Amino acid sequence: MNRTRTNIQIPRETIDEIRHRSDIVEVISECGIPLRPAGRDYKALCPFHDEKTPSFTVSVAKQIFYCFGCQTGGNVISFVQKHEAKSFIETLTWLADRLNISLPNQNARESANRKRFTSLEELNRFAAQYYHRHLLTEDSGGQARRYLQHRGVQPKTLKLFQLGYAKSTRRNLVKAATDEGWTIQQLVDAGLIKNEERGPQDRFWNRLLFPIQNERGVPVGFGGRALSEEQQPKYLNSPETILYNKSNILYNLDKARQAIYKKRTALLVEGYMDALMLYQCGVENVVASSGTSLSENHATLLKRFTPEVIIVYDGDTAGFQAAQRGLHRLLAAGLRVRIALLPNGEDPDSFARQHGAEAFTKLTDKAINLVEFQIQTAIQQQNIHRVDVKTQIVKEISATLTHIQDRMERSEYVKYAAKELHVNTDMLWHELRDLGLKEAPAPYRTRANKASPKKLSPRAQIEAQLIEALIQNPTLIPYIKSQFHYADLTEPHFAKMAQLLWEANPENDGPDIQSLLNECTDEKLRALISNALLRKTPPNLKARVDGCLRKLQHFIFKDMEQRVRSHALAEGADELETLKELVKLSDQRRALGAQPIHEPGAYE
Ligand code: UTP
Ligand code: MN
Repeated sequence: MNRTRTNIQIPRETIDEIRHRSDIVEVISECGIPLRPAGRDYKALCPFHDEKTPSFTVSVAKQIFYCFGCQTGGNVISFVQKHEAKSFIETLTWLADRLNISLPNQNARESANRKRFTSLEELNRFAAQYYHRHLLTEDSGGQARRYLQHRGVQPKTLKLFQLGYAKSTRRNLVKAATDEGWTIQQLVDAGLIKNEERGPQDRFWNRLLFPIQNERGVPVGFGGRALSEEQQPKYLNSPETILYNKSNILYNLDKARQAIYKKRTALLVEGYMDALMLYQCGVENVVASSGTSLSENHATLLKRFTPEVIIVYDGDTAGFQAAQRGLHRLLAAGLRVRIALLPNGEDPDSFARQHGAEAFTKLTDKAINLVEFQIQTAIQQQNIHRVDVKTQIVKEISATLTHIQDRMERSEYVKYAAKELHVNTDMLWHELRDLGLKEAPAPYRTRANKASPKKLSPRAQIEAQLIEALIQNPTLIPYIKSQFHYADLTEPHFAKMAQLLWEANPENDGPDIQSLLNECTDEKLRALISNALLRKTPPNLKARVDGCLRKLQHFIFKDMEQRVRSHALAEGADELETLKELVKLSDQRRALGAQPIHEPGAYE
């Protein structure tokens, strides 16, 4: 992350403008979450925890989201921040870019970088469209068009994936782009051209081009396929640029993310063509690693969208052994990993074309867990009865087992592995500990992902009600403020919330809850606010608030009595004085039940 960014101060008005103009439903949908209308709100399966029925709610009127399952909530800014794993400033920049708002307070270097970044995005868009147009309309694109047709790519797929064609001369893009005002340096920075002795030359020529898009659909690079066997290499790819970091990009994620969310599974294939052809025949939850090994970033990227990944590899690829290292990264990110093996010599594209999407889906449905897969292949391929072979296999399997994040699952697989390999479970656990696993086996545990709200103490429940009422009706704040101090709230979150409410804009018509959401760095507080806003406001809010206040006073007096008692006990204080004080306090406490604790008329 760029350190300088965190120091930027963005003026409050700009933040407000960004927030006002970013419609929460639009933004959440753009982030790949299929929202469905539900009354005046929208609902979806929560992207932040595992669930089967939607409790993730988005309110258009209030411009907030809240999940009743895992108690995550906030406004459009907090959503993007959490969902896209961005800092506050990065989030604002992202939202501002989307709206074409410039951020005035960026320092000079920062804003120059930003400009460079967005202009390279623009340039890539230009190049993608340029190549796409050539594929569609130029005579010389005929060969590429026939090639695609021969491979079964339909015209609508070709358009959806914005496939392109780079002509066989070497200065096409250089010319077209510079004519449009792009500089040679920008073209070099985007990896589209190379500066050679004879002058700038296009990187891609006489190739079919697959634009590589980031998860927002912005083209960041290209994969260029040769059109004949002689042409080498088969694929020529863009170099890494400030936009294109290979360890951050999965091909087709922009189109696949919705289906991945919905199916709760991502299919991971190797090639551009594999992803494209599967997508064409209706298997939409597919991304390609594009020949690069899986990185930690790929794993965390996928984890944002799904709890499970199914790897679909050719059974006899040489790269498979190497790929297994990548697979550990998926496990370490907390993903469940299954493997579907294709018949020798087939890849997902050829398989789906030959046997159809249904056969392909059958194959992936039958995919077996990575651990089982490793054990079974080891047993089948090697002589497990030889001591040295068995020792080696046990070590490999143990390495995989240490990467499983869920303890319960890990423990189950330890049992499974022990049984299949004919070793003792204790011995396997020893092995895991030797490999650095700290935990002892703990097979009985609730799943970490299930949200389990903490039970509040009776006093904290009252405090919660009070805070909720204030958020629902901020005009009550001045009234309550005159009754007690925010520090009287025992639950730190509520006290903090009360403080924010007390301090926010006391005069006018109460605090602006949206700004409050922006200022809240604490997730729990944001959830508290969103929850309160989404709940139905009870009809008699004022009476409810008075009830809360009374009960709270009661607790406060009881506390004081308790303090007087323990003080007396510890210090050996004058008994008569203590008694008097206690009587006074308990009288006050009792009086609470009988009379209102405020002057009527002060508020109504
Ligand atoms: P494959 O050789 O399996 O190609 O490489 P493919 O995707 O099946 O393509 P077709 O069907 O022959 O057209 C898998 C992936 O590895 C990367 C590409 O991303 C490719 O999609 N690769 C392969 C390269 O980057 N360079 C190469 O020379 C070959
Ligand atoms: Mn292929």
